[in-house]
Amino acid sequence: MKFFLDTANIEHIKRAVRLGVIHGVTTNPSLVSKEGEVNYQGLVKDICAVVPGPVSAEVLSTDADGMVSEARKISGWAENIVVKIPATLEGIEATSVLSKENIKVNLTLCFSLNQAMLGAAAGATFISPFVGRLDDIGEDGMQLVAEVVNYLEYYQLPSQVIASSIRHTQHCLLAAKARAHVATVPYKVLLQMVNHPLTDIGVERFLNDWKSIFGNTAIVSK
Ligand code: E4P
Repeated sequence: MKFFLDTANIEHIKRAVRLGVIHGVTTNPSLVSKEGEVNYQGLVKDICAVVPGPVSAEVLSTDADGMVSEARKISGWAENIVVKIPATLEGIEATSVLSKENIKVNLTLCFSLNQAMLGAAAGATFISPFVGRLDDIGEDGMQLVAEVVNYLEYYQLPSQVIASSIRHTQHCLLAAKARAHVATVPYKVLLQMVNHPLTDIGVERFLNDWKSIFGNTAIVSK
């Protein structure tokens, strides 16, 4: 499973890219708003310049024509842009038009297998089931991820599933078990994934044991 970072914060993105484990980034209007009154195009271009893979940027229009014209412009901002289109009826129409023009679409706000099936039929490159938001209303968000993955696999469809709206590290484990192609994780969750108290205790103990015999002698000379 690949990891994307779910943020519009350029410093967090740079840090995560340096770790070498992030293949892409997903943004949305709420995440961009968190960064204050930024220049949207400038910010997305900056993100695209530092990220080695797909960067999702969302349209604001709600009608198919508006989505298509915004998406055509957004897709010209960088090579690695993917346009996020909501899984509405208008969004499905826009996805069909855009995929025929080889513009990559991430079908976002996907809450049902029916929406995902239509998104795949329309040619979406990515389909994003929102796990956390389904969990919030008492449904099993990860079950939807598994269903969409199975459906795409059974019919040999090329769309990839991004497990989205990830809230905690348990979601990352479950996304991998559901065989999601990608999990898009908030920066906080990325940091939590590597945290383990036994690792920290272990590092400290190794250093103390070394120092007790060798003092400050380094293993390799600088
Ligand atoms: C995914 O592409 C979305 O940006 C994101 O995962 C939404 O997550 P939220 O439900 O935590 O807002």
